Amino acid sequence: METIFSGIQPSGTLTIGNYLGAIQQFVEVQKDYDCYFCIVDEHAITVPQERLKLRNNIRSLAALYLASGIDPKASTLFVQSEVPAHTQLGWMLQSISYVGELERMTQYKDKSEGKDAVSSALLTYPSLMAADILLYNTNVVPVGDDQKQHLELTRDLAQRFNNRFNDIFTVPEIRIPKVGARIMSLQEPTKKMSKSDENEKGFISMLDEPKKIEKKIKSAVTDSDGIVKYDKQNKPGVSNLLTIYSSCTGESIKSLEDKYEGKGYGEFKQGVADAVISVLKPIQDKYAELINSEELDHILDQGAEKASFTANKTVAKAKKAMGLGRVKK
Ligand code: AMP
Ligand code: TRP
Repeated sequence: METIFSGIQPSGTLTIGNYLGAIQQFVEVQKDYDCYFCIVDEHAITVPQERLKLRNNIRSLAALYLASGIDPKASTLFVQSEVPAHTQLGWMLQSISYVGELERMTQYKDKSEGKDAVSSALLTYPSLMAADILLYNTNVVPVGDDQKQHLELTRDLAQRFNNRFNDIFTVPEIRIPKVGARIMSLQEPTKKMSKSDENEKGFISMLDEPKKIEKKIKSAVTDSDGIVKYDKQNKPGVSNLLTIYSSCTGESIKSLEDKYEGKGYGEFKQGVADAVISVLKPIQDKYAELINSEELDHILDQGAEKASFTANKTVAKAKKAMGLGRVKK
């Protein structure tokens, strides 16, 4: 069976963008692959975090993964910092990463722009991400569109390591969803929907109450045409809502266009809101049961143990390949 690895940062409550771009595909693939899903808390600290908030976000993200349908019997769910192999291999991969290639990453440029105190970890973030993936001999990495560049760098680092030292890493493939790979902000539909957006009206959190979801969708920025049609260039707001609607219901964009032909944005937005709520409501109910349960801790303990077993074997191989440590006499 091939292996899948993916991770999400515990840097705020997940949005419908994270769900449609990432988690929804995770749930789909877990029957067909050996899956590792990670709460990448060490990535989250590349920008300042409040400790108690971070703690809550880690637990909350774990509960959301499970509530969304990640099955701990089929997949390994764990917290990155509970498996030390990640930072160990991350350091080794930093030693073969070039500053120039790291500086070219758009996520680094976006997150560092205009800031005077940028952590060095923000720059070396992609080397740690490569370690996450390469530790598990991963074949496929399902992510949203924004992670493409990091994945390409991961492939480069794997090949570089294999050529320079020993052929130990599997070079992973990227898997991006056909619809929903890039959900945009409801307020600025040319910008990615992000859980760290300052304007709360720009995103739908997976834990927003139905009333709030409805309100946010109703105030989403559209245009003055009054025509429900997918046209990313000229109608980014409507196109984004169509994408969300289609990803939530599985209906094609074409059939949604037909359904709302001759109808106004009011009715269309109500349809979008209903579709989002019917996806999120059952997840929210499940979340409420899990968030304070011992079961959640048990699942994460077992996940860390299982992940460590595989990851430690890879670290041992990488150390040997690079000449780190000793060979005992
Ligand atoms: P992050 O929130 O940056 O940790 O992202 C976690 C996962 O969600 C990654 O696979 C991202 O590509 C995906 N993702 C984040 N934001 C969006 C979005 N607006 N649309 C689609 N996928 C997204
Ligand atoms: N960089 C990813 C993001 O911001 C999160 C991430 C960290 C990840 N390690 C990963 C995703 C490994 C896939 C595989 O969304």
